[in-house]
Amino acid sequence: MPEKDFIRETLYLKINNLKEDKGKIVKAAALIKEGRLVAFPTETVYGLGANALSPEAVKKIFQAKGRPADNPLIVHLPGWEELSAVVDVVPPHAWELSLRFWPGPLTLIFKAKRGVPQAVTGGLATVAVRVPGHPVALALLKEAGVPVAAPSANLSGRPSPTRAEHVLRDLVGRVDLILDGGPCQMGLESTVVNLVATPPVILRPGGVTGEELRKVIPDLVLSPGAKALTAATPPSPGMKYGHYAPKAPLHLLEGEEARVRKELLARAYAYRQEGLKVGLIVAAPLKTAGDFVLFNLGGSSDLAKAARDLFAVLRAMDDEGVDIILAEGFSETGLGAAVMDRLRRAAGTNISRF
Ligand code: TXA
Ligand code: MG
Repeated sequence: MPEKDFIRETLYLKINNLKEDKGKIVKAAALIKEGRLVAFPTETVYGLGANALSPEAVKKIFQAKGRPADNPLIVHLPGWEELSAVVDVVPPHAWELSLRFWPGPLTLIFKAKRGVPQAVTGGLATVAVRVPGHPVALALLKEAGVPVAAPSANLSGRPSPTRAEHVLRDLVGRVDLILDGGPCQMGLESTVVNLVATPPVILRPGGVTGEELRKVIPDLVLSPGAKALTAATPPSPGMKYGHYAPKAPLHLLEGEEARVRKELLARAYAYRQEGLKVGLIVAAPLKTAGDFVLFNLGGSSDLAKAARDLFAVLRAMDDEGVDIILAEGFSETGLGAAVMDRLRRAAGTNISRF
């Protein structure tokens, strides 16, 4: 594609009040209908949206993000009533899950209806669908009147954006419009559940916890691929790609709290000694950290805060120009499963257990 088609002028519009800013939503929806790219807030992370029924529009998403073409996209709808746009067979648990958790941070995988572009499904026979819980996202989806394919609005491999300025940093000049709806409340992406598999599988832990989902689907399992990051044939294409990486290498220390702390500090001081600028991500207050770049995400008592702030902290580490990041593990109950999943992916193979 010629360069002029790729580099685009990016409009930036702040939504303060949906009633007063209706014109901005209408503008954003018009761009979607024209086949252009609009970044918009959801309750999880910012999404980069395009008309899901237009292969040309969807291809622009991959180009703007530098995303591998075989990694499928989530289709966003304003309500479950619109499901028939991309799905015609609705498996048993789907209605109950959608009634309980939509709008919200849950993505369900169905058999794709004929006509859903390959660019959306990555060539799979299935399609991922979500009704997001953010008022700006819902207003945009209603106004657009077409299903909207949207991955997270970051450059591929970077931490997902939880604020409009993160989107601006990554995608200015690559998208047509950024709608700024303030910081995302949840801060981690939706839980992805494959309902086509027997038993159904959690492919990506996220905003809706495994505990909550098992109240509806008792035999729901966590995909082994969601744990083993280098599975040869991952059940979800997204699992095989590097993710959430800050610029500096991140080392994750998991295990018994006191031992993890001791090791974290020993390593931190050793790196300092070598003249490195060290970033620390901790799960509880840490007093002894002299001249480290320190972020306390709050511990197991407030996993919602850890979830909300994690990606912004990874990006802040980049801004601080740290050479290395040491992070301690979190409790894996509730939202902690999603927090740990993202930390492990950010760490790649740099994980030690104590
Ligand atoms: O919270 C979210 O889910 C955000 C907001 C914008 O909605 N979106 C998001 O999209 O995180 P993305 O593209 O960054 O992640 C979608 C994940 C990827 O890992 C992808 O491989 C997986 O969902 N996925 C999509 N369609 C799939 C399918 N048909 N089968 C298996 N995995 C699928
Ligand atoms: Mg993503």
